[in-house]
Amino acid sequence: MAQIIGVANQKGGVGKTTTTLNLGAALHKEGKRVLLVDMDPQAALSTSLESAPRGAEKTVYDVLLSRTAATRVVRRTGAGPDLIPANIDLAAAEVELMAEMGRERVLAEALEPVRDRYDFPRPSVSSPSTPSSPRAT
Ligand SMILES: Nc1ncnc2c1ncn2[C@@H]1O[C@H](COP(=O)(O)OP(=O)(O)O)[C@@H](O)[C@H]1O
Ligand SMILES: [Mg+2]
Repeated sequence: MAQIIGVANQKGGVGKTTTTLNLGAALHKEGKRVLLVDMDPQAALSTSLESAPRGAEKTVYDVLLSRTAATRVVRRTGAGPDLIPANIDLAAAEVELMAEMGRERVLAEALEPVRDRYDFPRPSVSSPSTPSSPRAT
C-alpha cells in the first residue's frame, strides 16, 4: 500500500513544485513506483514533466469533479514517475466542491484505486489548505 505525501503551502514561490519534482525523481531512482499528482491550476509540475494536458485531455479536475477514474488520467512521463496532470480548470474545483458532503475526502478516495500500483503517490498542492480543500489521506 502506497505512502501518500502532500507538499502544500499557501504561499507561492516557496519550492513546492521543485520539491515535488526532485523528491519524485529521487524516489523513482531508488526503484520506488511514484505517482505525482499536480494539484496546482497553474500546472507547473505537469509542464515541467512535458505532460501539460492538451485540449480535452482529462486532468485531476475530472478525477475530483466528474469522478473520472484516476486510472484513466494517469500518464507516463519521460522523467520516471507517473503523473496525474492539472490545468486551469482546477481553479474552480474548490468552489464547485463547496456543496459536496465529505469533499475533503474526494482526493483520498479517488487515489484509492491506484494505491496498490505505487509506493509513493505525491500530491503537490498549491491552493490554500482550507478545511474544505480535498486532502490526500
Ligand atoms: N532549494 C532551492 N534553492 C534555490 N531556489 C529554489 C529552491 N527550490 C526552488 N527554488 C526556485 O524558487 C522558485 C519557486 O519554486 P517553485 O518550486 O516553483 O515554488 P512553488 O511551487 O512553491 O510556487 C523557482 O524559480 C525555483 O527554481
Ligand atoms: Mg508550484
